Amino acid sequence: MNRETVLITGGNSGIGLECARQLAKDGRRVVIASRNLAASEDAAEALRREHGEDAALALALDLGELSSVRSFVAEVEARDLHLKALVCNAGLQGIHERASPDGVELTVAVNHLGHFLLVNLLLERLRRHAPARVVVVSSGVHDAGLTTGMPTPRMDDLDALFARGGSHDGAYNGQRAYVNSKVCNMLFTYELVRRLGPDSRVTVNAFDPGLVPGSGLARDYSPALRFFWDKVLPAAASVVTHLTPRVNPAWKSGQALARLVTDPALEGVTGRYYPSHTRWEEARSSEASYDTARQRALWDLSAQRAGLPTTAVG
Ligand SMILES: NC(=O)c1ccc[n+]([C@@H]2O[C@H](COP(=O)([O-])OP(=O)(O)OC[C@H]3O[C@@H](n4cnc5c(N)ncnc54)[C@H](OP(=O)(O)O)[C@@H]3O)[C@@H](O)[C@H]2O)c1
Repeated sequence: MNRETVLITGGNSGIGLECARQLAKDGRRVVIASRNLAASEDAAEALRREHGEDAALALALDLGELSSVRSFVAEVEARDLHLKALVCNAGLQGIHERASPDGVELTVAVNHLGHFLLVNLLLERLRRHAPARVVVVSSGVHDAGLTTGMPTPRMDDLDALFARGGSHDGAYNGQRAYVNSKVCNMLFTYELVRRLGPDSRVTVNAFDPGLVPGSGLARDYSPALRFFWDKVLPAAASVVTHLTPRVNPAWKSGQALARLVTDPALEGVTGRYYPSHTRWEEARSSEASYDTARQRALWDLSAQRAGLPTTAVG
């Protein structure tokens, strides 16, 4: 397995699958890492049929369980993957409050903490194969300054973030946990860049796909909402995307995500944000995401929760 490889979490569905498809088309070997191994095997098999026997591999990874992240990394090490890029794409949005086996609210566990541990444990391998890239899939909903139809993020209490996805006024709000987890993606990106230092040959950038109906993200929603999301909105998105860059079919966002991995013009470019509303030109993220004290505090607490020293990088 010496061919240059891109690892993509959640590459068996939605935006990740379209990204994997584009990467394979561009001649990259893709490792699809998701919880549902059968779905990942199907996706990898389809890519192999189109792009050759060596084009794709599926591996099991449950980002909601720290021990699974560690076993997954052990498998990557055993296979000695020639890792050139890591796309942190997997994500979930729930309605009901659930905790990971490690006692962390599940949205934060999967969207943030699992990726935090994964990236930290794979950094040495990325450095060895540098120049190498990390791309973190966030969302425009991280930005309280934008009207997105989602709750505004609340990151005032990091203990509450890990325990319940953030502070809620009253009952648990899965959408608030989700937007908070997407703020975490931004804070993590910027703090990692600072810890890697200006001379690092591993670059780290963040991405927002825009609203992408039809993906698996609504899997916890009611059948009526899911029908609308799966069957009605995707056709509308293919038309509406010509009018607004904020709504996109999965293939379009997936291809834009793949570009952050492959575009030679982005060699050495780090600590940037590529949102859909600029058609993925570099832009500023929310003001709050540049709060270095918040970035550090999240890093330190995440390291503690993931069982890493707070000085793991840098
Ligand atoms: N769709 C949108 O409108 C939208 C907007 C902004 C941002 N995003 C972001 O885009 C990314 C991709 O989402 P999507 O819309 O393409 O949704 P999706 O089709 O549901 O894809 C999510 C992927 O994450 C994987 N996943 C979920 N839980 C996991 C876990 N515990 N461990 C490992 N993998 C897990 C899923 O695989 P399994 O089947 O194996 O669980 C699936 O492949 C997410 O980060 C999401 O927050 C989406």
